[in-house]
Amino acid sequence: MKKVEISLSLIEADDLSELTPDEQELIKTSRKMTTQAYAPYSGFFVGAAVLLENGEIITGSNQENAAYPSGLCAERVAVFAASAKFPGIKIKAIAISGNSKSRDIDHPVTPCGACRQVMLEYEVKQDEPFKVYLSGYSGKIYVIEKVQDLLPLSFTSKELKNL
Ligand code: THU
Repeated sequence: MKKVEISLSLIEADDLSELTPDEQELIKTSRKMTTQAYAPYSGFFVGAAVLLENGEIITGSNQENAAYPSGLCAERVAVFAASAKFPGIKIKAIAISGNSKSRDIDHPVTPCGACRQVMLEYEVKQDEPFKVYLSGYSGKIYVIEKVQDLLPLSFTSKELKNL
């Protein structure tokens, strides 16, 4: 028996100025998208912006519903829209930002488990990692090199091959 440790390393930027203009643009777009959220029940606004290898940026925001589980997170809205509009085009990066009705969020918002699983599906499918930028409406930004880092011991399609 042995102890196994799985660690996550990420880059923490103090603010947008530490990132490239393209990265800043993607994060700003996701922050802008928080204002498009339909979140009357939680008051928690999430925006997402997906950069594709063809240069397109596909956006999303969380969409809630009176029947609560029928709603969808911003990341999944954006990633599904990107795959629906540009099937087979690789994702280069996704920026995810959060804000709230009551006060501006000044720390990185982290994606829920279901969104990590969905993002990982596309990363595995395209066989190339993509970056994830996490932030609030202001403040620090986390840069994660690949979705896999956000979901250790994940279940993927590889498990279903050769059954
Ligand atoms: N939400 C997202 O859009 N992304 C996440 O990764 C976490 C949660 C949304 C879902 C719901 O509309 C609200 O935030 C509160 O959970």
